[in-house]
Amino acid sequence: MHNITMLGTGLIGMFYTMALHQYTPHRVGVVYSRRTERAEAFAKDWGIPRSTTSMEDAINDPSTDVVVIGLPNNLHEQAVALAVQAGKTILCTKPLGRTAEEAKRMLEMVEAAGVFGGYLEDLAYTPKTLKALKSVQNGALGKILWARSRETHPGPHSDWFWDKEQSGGGAIVDMGCHCIEIARNFIGKDVRPVEVMCWADTQVHPIEAEDSAVGLVKYSSGAIGQFEVSWTFRGGMDLRDEVSGTEGTIWLNHWLRTGFDMFTAVGEGGYVAEKAESATGWLFPVGDEVGALGYVEMFRDMFAAIDGGRAPLETFYDGYVVNAIMDAAYRSAQSRQWEPVLLDVWRGETEAESGEAFREFDAEHWLIKEERMPDGRLKRMLKVKASGQVKQVVMD
Ligand SMILES: NC(=O)c1ccc[n+]([C@@H]2O[C@H](COP(=O)([O-])OP(=O)(O)OC[C@H]3O[C@@H](n4cnc5c(N)ncnc54)[C@H](O)[C@@H]3O)[C@@H](O)[C@H]2O)c1
Repeated sequence: MHNITMLGTGLIGMFYTMALHQYTPHRVGVVYSRRTERAEAFAKDWGIPRSTTSMEDAINDPSTDVVVIGLPNNLHEQAVALAVQAGKTILCTKPLGRTAEEAKRMLEMVEAAGVFGGYLEDLAYTPKTLKALKSVQNGALGKILWARSRETHPGPHSDWFWDKEQSGGGAIVDMGCHCIEIARNFIGKDVRPVEVMCWADTQVHPIEAEDSAVGLVKYSSGAIGQFEVSWTFRGGMDLRDEVSGTEGTIWLNHWLRTGFDMFTAVGEGGYVAEKAESATGWLFPVGDEVGALGYVEMFRDMFAAIDGGRAPLETFYDGYVVNAIMDAAYRSAQSRQWEPVLLDVWRGETEAESGEAFREFDAEHWLIKEERMPDGRLKRMLKVKASGQVKQVVMD
C-alpha cells in the first residue's frame, strides 16, 4: 500500500481521492489546501489523517511516498520541483505545463533525479478507450487515418482557469490536452506529430484566452488528429471520439449519450453528472463517474507501474509532447498558417512512413473501391498502375 500526499482539494483532488479510496488499496495520508477550513473539511470527508496549508510540509511529510499534483496549472512546476527534492514518486494532472518549455523542465527534473513521473491523463484510460485502443493495436481498423476528439462544456468551475496567466490559455490548454493525447494514442505514440493548423477565438466569455478552438495535428504517417474544444457549449459535457482507419471505424461517446437517459419533471435535488446544466427534464446521468472518466484504470496502471518498475501508459514525456503540440496550435491560431511542432526531445520513430494506403487488386491494378448495387451487381473501380487510367468493372 502506498501513502499519498494529495495537493489540492478542488474538483480533481476530489475525483482522485474518491477513485483511490473506493477502488485501490492506496490511501491519501496528507492533504494540502490553501485554507485551513477547506483542508480540514476535505480530510474529514475522506478519512485523511492529516491536513495542512503548507505545500512544502505536505510534500515532505515522512509518512508519504507518492505526491499527486491536483493544483492550478501555474503551480505544477513548483510542486514537481519540491517533490523531486523530497525524492518522491510524482503523479501530475493534465496539462503537465502551461507551455512545452515548462513541461520540459519538469521532465528533465524527474529524469535527472531518477524519480517516477506519471502523467494523469485520465481520458486515455476510460474502459471504452482502453478497449478501443486494443482493437486498433490488434489491427481491426487497419492503418489509422483520422482520430477526432471533442470535449466541450459551458466552461470551468474555478476562477483561475479563466485567467490566462495562471492557466496558460483557454479551452486548448484545458481540454485540447485531453483530445490531443487521445488522438496520439490511436494514431500511435511512436508517430511524430509534425505540424498544426488551428482556429481559436473568444466567442462568448469576456476573457483574454480562447473559449473555442478547432485544430488539425498532422502526423508523419499522414494521419490527422483533430481536436474540437469549447467552453461555450450548452447542455452539459460532450466527450466524443472517432477513429477511422483503412479497415474500420470506432465511435465513442463518453458522457451525454452513454445509454442512460432519464426524464424527470421534478428532479431529485442533487448532483447529476459533471458539468450537467439542469436537474430536471431529460438528463444524462453517469453510472460510475470515476470509472467512466478513466480515473480507476489510470491509478491501477500508475501503481502497477510504480510497483513493477516499468513506465506507465502516460508519462511526463507524453505530457511534454502534448504541450509542444498545444504551443504549435497557439502559434497557428495567431499566424493562420500550419506551424511546426517543435520537439527538442523526440523519442519515437525517426523515419516518416508513407502517407499512402493503396490496396492492390492485381499486378496491373489498384483497387479504388467496390460496391454492391441495389440490383445485386458488384461494381469495382480500378486504377491501371502503368497508365493511371481509372475504369470500372461491373460483375453481374
Ligand atoms: N480530467 C482531468 O484530468 C482534470 C479535471 C479537472 C481539473 N484537472 C486539472 O487539475 C488541476 C486543478 O484543477 P481543479 O479543477 O481541481 O481546480 P479547483 O479550482 O477545483 O481546485 C484547485 C485546488 O488548488 C488549490 N490551490 C492552491 N493554490 C492555489 C491558487 N493559487 N489558486 C487557486 N487554487 C489553488 C485550491 O485550494 C484547490 O484545492 C488543474 O491542473 C486542472 O487542469 C484535471
